[in-house]
This record gives sequence, C-alpha cells and structure tokens, in this order.
Amino acid sequence: MISFDEKNAIFTLTGKGTTYAMGVVDGVLEHRYFGAPIHAGDDLSLFRGEAAGSFEARIPGTVSQNQISAEAPAYGRGDYREPMLVFRGEEGETTVDLRYVGYRIVRDHKLAGLPTSFGGETLAVTLSDPVRGVSVELFYTVFDDAPAVARSARIKNTGKGKLKILRAYSAALDLPGNGYDLITLYGAWVRERMPERTPVRHGVISVDSKRVSSSATENPFAAVVERTATENAGRAYGLALVYSSSWKISVEGAQNGSTRLLGGISDFAFSKTLSPGETFDTPEAVFAFSPDGLGGLSRAFHDYAREHLMNPAFVKRPRPIVVNNWEATYFDFDYERLYPIIDAAEGTGIDTFVLDDGWFGARNNDSAGLGDWTVNRSKLPEGLTPLIERCHARGLKFGLWFEPEMVNPDSDLYRAHPDWAISCPGYEPLLSRRQLVLDITRPEVRDYIVSAVNRVLSENAIDYVKWDSNRNVTELFSSAAAENDRECFAHAYALGLYDLFERIVFANPGVFFEGCSGGGARFDFGMLYYFPQIWTSDDTDAGMRCLIQYGTSYVYPPSAMSCHVAACPNHQNGRTTPFFTRCAVAHLGATGFELDLSKLPDEERNAIREQNELFRRDEDLILSGDLYRVADPFSGNLFGFLIVSKDRSKATLTLVKLLAETNAEHLFPRLPGLDPAASYFIEESGATFHGDTLAEVGLPFDCRKLGDFTAAVFHLRRV
Ligand code: GLA
Repeated sequence: MISFDEKNAIFTLTGKGTTYAMGVVDGVLEHRYFGAPIHAGDDLSLFRGEAAGSFEARIPGTVSQNQISAEAPAYGRGDYREPMLVFRGEEGETTVDLRYVGYRIVRDHKLAGLPTSFGGETLAVTLSDPVRGVSVELFYTVFDDAPAVARSARIKNTGKGKLKILRAYSAALDLPGNGYDLITLYGAWVRERMPERTPVRHGVISVDSKRVSSSATENPFAAVVERTATENAGRAYGLALVYSSSWKISVEGAQNGSTRLLGGISDFAFSKTLSPGETFDTPEAVFAFSPDGLGGLSRAFHDYAREHLMNPAFVKRPRPIVVNNWEATYFDFDYERLYPIIDAAEGTGIDTFVLDDGWFGARNNDSAGLGDWTVNRSKLPEGLTPLIERCHARGLKFGLWFEPEMVNPDSDLYRAHPDWAISCPGYEPLLSRRQLVLDITRPEVRDYIVSAVNRVLSENAIDYVKWDSNRNVTELFSSAAAENDRECFAHAYALGLYDLFERIVFANPGVFFEGCSGGGARFDFGMLYYFPQIWTSDDTDAGMRCLIQYGTSYVYPPSAMSCHVAACPNHQNGRTTPFFTRCAVAHLGATGFELDLSKLPDEERNAIREQNELFRRDEDLILSGDLYRVADPFSGNLFGFLIVSKDRSKATLTLVKLLAETNAEHLFPRLPGLDPAASYFIEESGATFHGDTLAEVGLPFDCRKLGDFTAAVFHLRRV
C-alpha cells in the first residue's frame, strides 16, 4: 500500500513485513526508514540528522546534505558520500541539486527493454534540477506478499544542451548506524557463490563485475546485516540487482554514523549522453528486509522472485527431469552413442533428454561451429529427427543446447561476417575457449540469431532449450554502434541480450528454457525473469554442490537452481560420493542427470525411478516452500537444508555429513520454521516430535560411523 501524508510530507510504502518511508524537506526527498512494519502517520522528520559542525557546506536554512539521507543522492551540493547519480553538462559542470516535483501511482509499471518486477504497486516520484536540465523519476514497487521494494530510476534530459550521465545507479539506501557486516558471494568457475562476511567500516567497500555479465567472480547481491546477526536472528537488509551485465554494489560506513548501500550498472567505462528530451532507465535494484537474520532475508528474496519476477507460467509448475549427455559423451557422440542413454531413461521418471554442445556446424570440439545453428551432418547425418523420434518412442521430450551470443572464428558465420564479432580496432581479438562474442548491440546480428535459433525450434519438436554463454567480453567496443551506445557498451549488450530473450524465450512460450553460462556464471535476477531455472555450476560433485547451492540460496530460491546427478569419480574434482548423496543434493533444486545412464551399475539404475518418484512427491516444496539453512557447511562438517511447506504441514530435511569423523558426537540440528504447537511424524525414523521441540532441541542425528559425504533425508508430516 502506498500513502502520502500531505501535512508531514511523508510517503509510506507498506508491503508484507516492511515499511519504507520517505519525507520531503526543503524540497529534498529524504529517506526516513526501511525495515519492519511501523505505523504510518508518525512524524518521522523528528529523526532527521542534526547538522554537524559549521565546517560542512549547506544550502542556507537547511541541514548539510552530508548529514541527511537523500533518496537519490547526486554529486555536487555537499553530500560527499558515494552518489547514486553523477552527471556532466556540456561545459563539464558536475553540480546537481535535485528537488521534489510531484508523484504518481503507476499500474503495471514496466521498464523499457529491461526485466521488471510485476504484480506490485508502484510509486513514481519526480525530482528535478532546472539548472542542470535533468529530471529523475524514482520508481518504488512494493508487494503484498514479499518483504521487498524494487527500485529504479528514469533520467531525463530536460535542458537545451547535451547531458552526460557518468553514473546511473538504480538506488541508494542509507541505514542507521555503522554496526553492520557485509555479506557478498564471490566465486569462480566450478566454485560459484561462496559467501564472504566482513565488517562494514568507515570508507567504501565495493563488489562488481566488469565482464559484461553478472559473473561468477561476484554475484550482484549484497546483504548488510547487524553485526550480531545470525542465520536466524538479527536485522538483515539485502540488495540484489535485476541485471545481467557489468554492475557494481558499494557499501559505505559514513562520517555521520549511517551506512549507505547502493548499486546498479557499473560506472566503470560507462557514460551515456542524452540529447534534450531523451530518457535513460536504470535496471531494478531489489531491497529486501528481514528481522530474522540471513535466513529470513533469503526467504524474502525467494518469495519476491517466485511471486514477482519469475515467469508465472513455469515458476510453480513441476520441472522437467532431464538427462543431459554432456558429461556422458562431451563432443564425442553419434546416434549409436546417444540411443542407449535415451533408451535407458525410459520408465525411470526422467522425462526429457537434452542434447548438449556439439550437434551443429562443424562442431567436433570447442574450436569450431559456434554461430552455425544447422545440424552437424558428419555426426548426425539424418539431422535431429531420429533422436527426437527415439525420445518420443521412449516417452521422453527432447531438449537442445544453444550458445546464441557466440561465434568461433572457424565458422561459416564468422567467415561471412567477421565484423559481427566484438573487437577493438588495432587489437587482435583475444580468444577465450577459442570463441568470440557477437556484437548483439547491432540489430542485424540480433536478427540473425533470432531467425537462426527460432528456425531450429520451429522445424523440430523441441520442448526444452539450454541457453549457454561460455566467455566474457574483452576489447569492449562496437564499431557499428552510435557513439552514445559505445560509451555504455556493457549496458547496450544487456539491452541486446534482453531483446533476444524477448524474441526467442518469450516468443516460444511452449518451450522450457534453462539459463547457463560456463556453469553458473550468469546467475542473477535479470536472467531469472526469463529463465525459470539456471544451471548452477559445472561442478557436479555433490560435496562442492553443498557449498555452491548453500551460497546460491542466499538470494535465489531452490527451484531456480538446476542440479544434476553426475558420474563418479566426479569429472571436476575426482571425488567419489555415494549415489544416494548425489541424488539428495540434486533434489534440492530442479533435478536431473548428467551421465551415461546405460553404463550405470544395476543398483543405481534401478534406484533412479525410486529417486525420481521421491522427488516428484515433494517437488512442491522445492517449487514454493520456505528454505531454512539448518547446518552451515562453511563453518562445520555438516550441510543441512530444511524446506517447509507454506502451510507448515510437511517438510523435508536434507543433511550431508561432509567428512567422516571417528568418535563423532551426536548432532542435533535445530529445525526452525515448523508449527511449534503441531506434532510432526518423521517417516524415516518413525518418531514424532512437536515443532517447538524440533526448533529448540533439534533432531537427533547419529553421525557415528558415517563415511565421507553421507546424506540423510527426513520427511516430516504434521499429524
Ligand atoms: C558449459 C556448460 C556445460 C556444457 C558446456 C558445453 O561449460 O556449463 O554444462 O553445456 O558448456 O560446451
């Protein structure tokens, strides 16, 4: 709900579990409050910061800008903290003074060309600086069923000359006090989204990506939590960007005893020139809040994503259970090698066979073929049809891998259009995985991709697509783009990418699309708007997956994570883990298999059907349940996820004991989130406990004599 108290000039935005309040003072839109719900109507201006000593610059009759919390802090009038917005006029002027003009309530708010949260109520507040010739419309979307606020900004050149944007972050948020910790997710290939916690101090700490992708290096997310906050207690604030290209998030412990959290499009190698009347939209930044620690913050993000970001046509529907041939065959396949995998899937509950990389162009290894989206006839002389028919005969659907943004120099596409690959004049373009990136800021390149991919989809019965992207951009430049798109090439790439998704993903509503990027290197809310699930990591080892899925769950719901059972010894790290453990860990997301089913030992092949039945029985928990992380594998020897249905009638608990210990102590993982007054029957042990007992005492877990990486799964039902 959005209300405006004219007397006190206070905006109050009330969503589920949150209040966000702002006030207009001396024409400045000031932040007042974000956190647990409070009553609207109190005079929050009483809490406005006092002026510091007389050495701070201030507009006569007002408090120094360095003391207050502007909703859209811009550079030039005495706020020396990190600004959300930086502009430059034609003569190089950087001073900006944005003042409140008015507001409107917007229905069905949608940002042009950018993924946008839906299903909320949006307040749009206009600020303007007639001297600089700029207006900024700030958007705030609140939701009835998720403790989150989605923010973005629309910048307009209202002057007579050109206006250069040097920084256009999506939002800034000042939190009271300095006593916070910052939590971010760093990583690399096969080691994505590892949590890192550090005290916020005075000065600025930033995380970013300059890769023209959200990246595995850092995820576009930051949590600022009270220093004493734990998994289950303490105030926790989070920021996640609905964006898939280069980004930056900063947190600043400020001189006046507040903490500023802000971020958006990376301002590294970024500017954008607006002619008079032109506008620029930033992507959305989503702020979430929980009084219940980091776990509560994650559940806030999960609810937000499932209700207001991910495609409603798929988000809560049972997912395909796939078998993917990548780790089974890599590039080395033909019909005879693939048929046994398809045949072995029949009757197991696997419903989709996905043909991965290598089916197109002259693709026999990673040196050739990208860009040529026609069947590799040397491998598959009769095309895809025999495979599709084989799948259908075995009761399976058929899925196909694409990497539409890329091109190999050894490809017909590159030979015909060498200038379509991104390069910078004078430099030999660097290869990464022996490929180049197509300049999708160019309409003709996008048109080619759209027609090439859509042709394959329309000419074949394809139910599922895995959209991969296996390198980052170097020599960032577009020879064809207009100058003001060259200035912000990384952002122009994002707009090109989202246009491709509109014209391929959304234009094929009957096809299920999974995102991927060299494993999980583009796992962000921008992608989740288009792709209901994303391949979480090329690391298919169940032990490493415990860590990766644990970190990923800080922001992204289990159903967003694509998780496969792979062969052992694991191809990435050589580890051997029990088959049951691999299934248990892969069941904590959108599950599937990534191995040669025909070569499995009998007992594992027989177990697949049973495992898939178990998964389907409780898939609703993965699709819509509340996740409680009950054991942290980064700080102990146990991984634990408890997923509780929204009505708290059932739950599954998955524990993985990482390394075996001798003379191990009994563990009692505490299980919050159940109905404290209800009794729960635990299928596997036959015991019944009250919810409060399970929350306070914990579930007894005997880990004596458990070998390395042993999993246990418990199903709890309310009785
Ligand atoms: C990436 C993906 C893998 C696989 C290969 C194919 O690494 O993450 O799952 O599709 O590309 O080349």
